[in-house]
Amino acid sequence: VTDPLTQIAMRHGTDKWGGHFYTPVYHELFKDLRDRPLKMLEIGVGGFSFYNAGGHSLRMWAEYFPNADITGIDIVPKRVPVPDRVRILQGSQDDMAFLAKVGADHGPFDIILDDGSHIPQHVVASFNGLFPHLKEDGLYVIEDVQTTYWSSFGGSVMRGGDTMKLVRELLDGLNHVEIAAVSNLNRSHAYSPKIKAIRAFHNIVVIEKGDNTEPSNARYDLKHPKAMEAIATLKAFLEQEPTAPAYASLISLYAMGGDLASAKALLAKALDLWPDSIDLILSAANLAGATGDRAGHLMWMEKVLAREPDNPECQRVVADTKRALGI
Ligand SMILES: C[S@@+](CC[C@H](N)C(=O)[O-])C[C@H]1O[C@@H](n2cnc3c(N)ncnc32)[C@H](O)[C@@H]1O
Repeated sequence: VTDPLTQIAMRHGTDKWGGHFYTPVYHELFKDLRDRPLKMLEIGVGGFSFYNAGGHSLRMWAEYFPNADITGIDIVPKRVPVPDRVRILQGSQDDMAFLAKVGADHGPFDIILDDGSHIPQHVVASFNGLFPHLKEDGLYVIEDVQTTYWSSFGGSVMRGGDTMKLVRELLDGLNHVEIAAVSNLNRSHAYSPKIKAIRAFHNIVVIEKGDNTEPSNARYDLKHPKAMEAIATLKAFLEQEPTAPAYASLISLYAMGGDLASAKALLAKALDLWPDSIDLILSAANLAGATGDRAGHLMWMEKVLAREPDNPECQRVVADTKRALGI
């Protein structure tokens, strides 16, 4: 028993199943999108240099996605029969002007799939040229990434090849704000703020477009839309369901963002309600530490130590603070 896409693949004779084992992966990725009026672009129509050969995967996608508008591109002028919803354009996947025109005329796309030359330099060029023409939440799929290791395609095992170099850059880029928080080294890709996820399978890499601008904890900006949303949401939650841990979370957001006055005011309010909460006592100790109030820090840490006198780390913090205060 096979999945529906593999059934359709067999009907149309694409090597996306059998030679490769891609269709079960694609079915998992795409099954919830099947009935949508998608726009899809596939690089590589198939049939290589023969004008009348190929089109197998385009026919497969047209059947799998009954409401999709599908564009196929190939360097060879293809004259293969395809359903009405499918168009084939001639051009090279490393011709940036051609890619820009395809994107402007027929995009933005929900799915872009690169099954073209598999030459790593071409794969990188197409990604750079087409990613701007991918919709928010869209998927960019690179097929046959194994050629990144094959010298016959211009790849290399020793250097990892350009496709995997790109993927590694994109992986680092998922954490671009964390890298920027500690270093000026730019180890991410220009598109990184627009890439929210990357999934890698045997010979396939899937890049998911979406917002990736959440602030780093190391540079928490209270004016950042995500931070503002988190604070508003926590406040609304506290209105409905006030708890000491939720207060402690809100206090720590203000403290991380440098608004110590709001953090202190909230802490005072919460401690009135829950004077024995360990979360709030630790918030108070941290806040006192952050404002340079060593005496306050000591007072709160002594409260913690009273609860866990056998904790050597707690003993050390209390002893160090006392020493610093000359006690
Ligand atoms: C593996 S086949 C595509 C198979 C097809 N997608 C399928 O699954 O049935 C690769 C295709 O890419 C085309 N191609 C090669 N170099 C290209 C380039 N620079 N730009 C666009 N297409 C290219 C080839 O002509 C060939 O038809």
